[in-house]
Amino acid sequence: MQWTTLFTLALAAPSSALVRFHCSQLVTERLDPLVQPGEVPSTHVHQIVGGNAFNATMDPKMDMPGESTCTSCQFSDDFSNYWTAVLYFRAQNGSYKRVPQLGNNQFRTANGGLTVYYMQDAIYDQQQLSKVTAFQPGFRMFIGDVNARSLEEAARFRQLTYTCLDTFVTRSPETIAFPNRKCKEGIMTSLRFPTCWDGKNLDSPNHMDHMSYPETGTFESGGPCPATHPVRTAQVMFEVVWDTKPFNDLEWPADGSNPFVWSFGDATGYANHADYVFGWKDDSLQQILDYPCHFMTNCSESGAKMQSVEAMNKCTQQVMVEEDIDSWLPALPGGYQAEYAHPSM
Ligand SMILES: *[C@@H]1O[C@H](CO)[C@@H](O)[C@H](O)[C@H]1NC(C)=O
Ligand SMILES: *[C@@H]1O[C@H](CO)[C@@H](O)[C@H](O)[C@H]1NC(C)=O
Ligand SMILES: *[C@@H]1O[C@H](CO)[C@@H](O)[C@H](O)[C@H]1NC(C)=O
Repeated sequence: MQWTTLFTLALAAPSSALVRFHCSQLVTERLDPLVQPGEVPSTHVHQIVGGNAFNATMDPKMDMPGESTCTSCQFSDDFSNYWTAVLYFRAQNGSYKRVPQLGNNQFRTANGGLTVYYMQDAIYDQQQLSKVTAFQPGFRMFIGDVNARSLEEAARFRQLTYTCLDTFVTRSPETIAFPNRKCKEGIMTSLRFPTCWDGKNLDSPNHMDHMSYPETGTFESGGPCPATHPVRTAQVMFEVVWDTKPFNDLEWPADGSNPFVWSFGDATGYANHADYVFGWKDDSLQQILDYPCHFMTNCSESGAKMQSVEAMNKCTQQVMVEEDIDSWLPALPGGYQAEYAHPSM
C-alpha cells in the first residue's frame, strides 16, 4: 500500500518536521467521556493518558489546563486526553488476561501509555514552510469503528494499523488486521487521525464528520484538503506498544487464529479505534507546530516546556470504576466475549 511506503520514508527522513513525545498511563478503566459521556461504567475498558482532569463527563467548555494539576505527557502544557481500548489475551480455556503495555522506543522507562505525534508537514516540505493549524479548546475527535469485523468495513479508515514487532524498533509492514503470528517483542498499534477540519465545528454527532482525510493521497504525501474541510491540521497519531511477549509461551489456537481480543470483543483487529480530546494550554500547541522541529532533538527550542519521564509517571488518577480488569477473567469487563466475525458472517 502506497501510504505505508510514504510513512516509512517520513520516518527515515531525519529532517521532516515531526513532534513526537510520550505520555505515561494516567488510568485504565471503563470510562469514555467522548462516546458515552456520563456513563459510569462505559461499555468497555480504555487506557487513558494526559491531563488529570479526565472524567466521565467532560463539558466542551471545561478548562482542561485549569482543572488539571498534572499531565502524564512529556510536554507539560499538554493537558489533552488521548485514549484507546485495551488488548486481552484469550486462553484456550476461554479465560482472558489483560495484555500489559510498554513505554515506546526511547521511552522505555515510561509507565506504559502511548506515544503521540503531531506531524507538522508532508515529507517533501521539510522546513515547515506550510502552516498547520492547531486545534482549539473544546475540540475532540474519534477515528475507527467499534463494529467493524471485516476488511471492507475497516477500509474507510486509511491508517489504523498493527505492526508485529520482531525487534522493538520494527516499523513495517503494517497490517489492518491483528498480526497472524507470534510477535517476538510485542505488537504495536498505530492510529492516525484525519487532517482536514471543517473550520467550524469542534465536534460532530459521530465525532468524525467535522474532520476529513485529504481529497487525494494522504497527509504524508501532501494531499489537498477538500473544500468542505479546508483547514489543514497536524496529523495526530498514536503508537501503542502491547507486551504480548509473555503470552507467546502459552497455548495458542490450533487453527492458527490470533488469540488477542480488544476489550469490546473484536478478535479480528478491524475495529481498532482512538479518541482525542484537545487540552493544550493557551497557544502552546500552535507555537510548537510553527517551529520546524524533529522528535526530541530540538522541539523544546520552540519554547515548549518539557517534563521528565519520572514526572510523567507520577501523574496518575484513582480509578472511578472499581472492578477487576487484571485477573484471568471468564469474560471481558462489561460481559463481552471474543467475536471473530459478525454473527451473520
Ligand atoms: C531541528 O533538528 C532537525 C534534525 O536534526 C533539523 O533538520 C532542523 O533544521 C532543526 N530545526 C531547527 C529550527 O533548528
Ligand atoms: C469528576 O467529576 C465529578 C462530578 O462532577 C467530581 O466530583 C470529581 O471531582 C471529578 N474528578 C476529577 C478527577 O476531576
Ligand atoms: C485458563 O488458562 C490460563 C492460561 O493457561 C490459566 O492461567 C488459567 O488459570 C486458566 N483458567 C481456568 C479457569 O482454568
